[in-house]
Amino acid sequence: MARKLIVDCDPGIDDAVALCMALFDPRLDVVAVTATGGNIPGAQASRNVQALIERLDPPRYPRIGIVSSPKSAPHVDARFIHGDDGLGNQSLDVSVHHHRHAADKVIIDEVRAAPHEVTLLCLGPLTNIAHAFQRDPELPNLVDRLVIMGGSVCGIGNITPTAEFNIYADPISAQQVFQSRTTKTLVPLDITTQIKLTLDFKVDLPLDTSRAGQLLHPMVNFVFRSYHQHLGQESIHLHDAVALVAVVNPELFQSSDIFGQVETRGQLTSGMTVFDRRPQSHASPNMEVMTEVDVMAVTNCIVRGLAHAGRLTG
Ligand code: RIB
Ligand code: CA
Repeated sequence: MARKLIVDCDPGIDDAVALCMALFDPRLDVVAVTATGGNIPGAQASRNVQALIERLDPPRYPRIGIVSSPKSAPHVDARFIHGDDGLGNQSLDVSVHHHRHAADKVIIDEVRAAPHEVTLLCLGPLTNIAHAFQRDPELPNLVDRLVIMGGSVCGIGNITPTAEFNIYADPISAQQVFQSRTTKTLVPLDITTQIKLTLDFKVDLPLDTSRAGQLLHPMVNFVFRSYHQHLGQESIHLHDAVALVAVVNPELFQSSDIFGQVETRGQLTSGMTVFDRRPQSHASPNMEVMTEVDVMAVTNCIVRGLAHAGRLTG
């Protein structure tokens, strides 16, 4: 039976790649896609979720949850990597949807419709998850598991010297989720940055005669340029696609159960994830953290997942 999945994301090019894979993976039943501000402000994230799903036109349309407070001004974004619209400046059209529901309500509804069956794949700041848990205190016991792309075990960040972007963008929500009773798997930068996609990856993308290819080629070209221009890198990371592989192919990863927290007040360290790895630690682990990865196998999963999406949208 296909695993029920909610994808909470801030699309973002690597979010979009993960969605391309998830929406056509026969092992997954994507029951909802919810938007959160992060890479781009909330209203744009909501628009991007809708645009991606409409363009990809998957066999089963997931419910869409939009950012509930689109006016909240994020203190950070990643438009320098993903483009002003978050998707490589493609300016995708969207149809006008009148009855759109808030992301946290969609999460609550879908988890309660299938208690203990839904995996929540968290690819952006954890704002919606924290809001859903506050709104429905029983929810942490009803989610099967959270798989979270975020944090850094070694302490090296990407948006600040010590913090990873998703956690840094909303550290209070992240700490609340880290403290929740839910089963959690963290896929940190230590793992996702080991997968380095080179220019060969562009050759392996679905043809742009497919709906998936028509979306992917401009986005991937854009993000290769951003990484070169802003990060001085000739290869790219698709952090969120790696986190999706951790959902469907966990056997490609090794993990440890660790006690993790989020610094929420540090002047220099806000958003830093702090793990207690002392041998004599008395802190009970509150999450599984991925610590090793089969780089080649995960890279192949991403290429194959996108090729499959290309075949189904050709
Ligand atoms: O730090 C990488 C994460 O932040 C990814 O999810 C990327 O899309 C951004 O949200
Ligand atoms: Ca993301």
